[in-house]
Amino acid sequence: MKLKPIMKASLLSMALFGASFSANATIENPLVTSYLSTQTVIATQAAEQADTLVVVVPEGAAIQLAGWSTSTVEQVARIAEVAGFEGKMGQQETVNAPAGLGVTRLILVGVGDPAEAARTKVEDAGAALANMINNTKAETVQVNAELISNPVYNGRILAQLAHGVDLRNYRFDRYQSSPAARPAQTYHYHVTSRSHAEREFEAMQALAQGVFLARELTNLPGSAGYPAAFAEYARQALEPLGVNVTILTPEQVLEMGMGALYGVSQGSQHKAHLLIAHWEGSSEQPIALVGKGNTHDTGGYNLKTNAASIHRMPTDKAGGAAVVGAVAAIAGQRLEQNVVGVVPLSQNSISGEALLPGDVVTTGSGLTIEVANTDAEGRLILADGLWYVREHYNPRAIADIATLTGAKMTAVGTDFSAVFANNELVYETLAEAAETVNERVWRLPLDPRFERSISSRIADMKNTGSPGASAGAMLLQRFVGDTPWIHIDMAGNAQVDGPSGIHPAGATGYGVRMLTEWVKVYPKTAE
Ligand code: BES
Ligand code: MN
Ligand code: ZN
Repeated sequence: MKLKPIMKASLLSMALFGASFSANATIENPLVTSYLSTQTVIATQAAEQADTLVVVVPEGAAIQLAGWSTSTVEQVARIAEVAGFEGKMGQQETVNAPAGLGVTRLILVGVGDPAEAARTKVEDAGAALANMINNTKAETVQVNAELISNPVYNGRILAQLAHGVDLRNYRFDRYQSSPAARPAQTYHYHVTSRSHAEREFEAMQALAQGVFLARELTNLPGSAGYPAAFAEYARQALEPLGVNVTILTPEQVLEMGMGALYGVSQGSQHKAHLLIAHWEGSSEQPIALVGKGNTHDTGGYNLKTNAASIHRMPTDKAGGAAVVGAVAAIAGQRLEQNVVGVVPLSQNSISGEALLPGDVVTTGSGLTIEVANTDAEGRLILADGLWYVREHYNPRAIADIATLTGAKMTAVGTDFSAVFANNELVYETLAEAAETVNERVWRLPLDPRFERSISSRIADMKNTGSPGASAGAMLLQRFVGDTPWIHIDMAGNAQVDGPSGIHPAGATGYGVRMLTEWVKVYPKTAE
């Protein structure tokens, strides 16, 4: 693996403003390249030359921008009427622009009542707008929201719209020798007040950078995103943001007694690592985010025999990627929160050294686990990740996120994740955060009656049980003690086969926005 040194200032400004690099910089580390090929301009004036005008329209508003002639206003009103466009949230209309406007095309984007506009609906409108524009030859897109006169709503809605545009326009094409043309427009957001808009734009852009980082890590093939590489990529992206990054080597993992984490990769040429990313934005007791970073999952000796299923397994690090992305977003937003992200990193492969079904591993906590099935590796590495973060950081709450079980997909599908919590406040705040960003969660049971199913004849517990998704959660629960905790099973949420909404094809970055929002809303002092 060759990693070029990072230009710190550029990465920071890129993280905050989506700026591109100067032409002479050679960048091989993909995570240092700007994730977007579009340009964003935020200005209190209109673009000098635009070929496309986007007008953001509140429901029922007369469509009329400053400087429009009476005849233009009339023509646009007629166009809108014929199209049935009323400015309702989600409505969108592309038309040939009346001659007086000086642009080729006019796009009307409805946002309903600006005071009531749900953030995710505006983001969806932005994603739909991007998709529409990518099907045209537009180069410079002027986005005008002056029909929303309140400067707070004006700035916020434009920032959310831009967020949707950006999320949709991410591409993962660096393994293609002649990739499809990337979106390359300049989006010129005309804000009524710079001071109101800037903070909103910066927060959303930092969030988008976190999502892109998670998508990038998730999209990496197993042979490129193996434990050491994942950790190094994360370090290079996080350190310039002021995050304190520690990477434990396989030797250290073993020395500290984390035999479950170590065991999963013992048969791979790529041994286990533990990534710790600490954003100390306050001095309070931290919140911990723990993500499954299994960089590929063959199943081990319980080999995955379904071709489509094993092919999806580069995404088995999506939980870890979500944690890294969330820490990046939190740091990028300079949140006054103490957050520690922990990612146990493994690669579940086969060789003469690999774990055998029936083997017993000893976790850092001292508890032993019988490996009834080598394909239930996620809970093994998370057991040690959870133990480690409690032991070293005494967090006031923990969320873990993992592509853990196929059973979860059978139960709730791939739009929702399944969550399991030992604490109502943690569940309620996380569910609220998930709702805010439209990453849906559905609660499933943790119950003492499931304990029996993970009991082992020869060890303290075994790594399989029934019902499948709850059994995984029950095992994890044994490593969190009385710390308020929630487990998020995101199997199936990590990747989409084709573009939809804010997601281009490939990794979704699921979890980044929810975890970032949760950290913001979780009460500062434990109750
Ligand atoms: N990484 C898989 C879970 C998964 C399946 C994620 C499909 C995304 C899509 C996990 O490690 C696994 O293999 N789980 C097993 C557990 C079983 C052996 C107890 C499963 O769910 O089949
Ligand atoms: Mn597995
Ligand atoms: Zn797995």
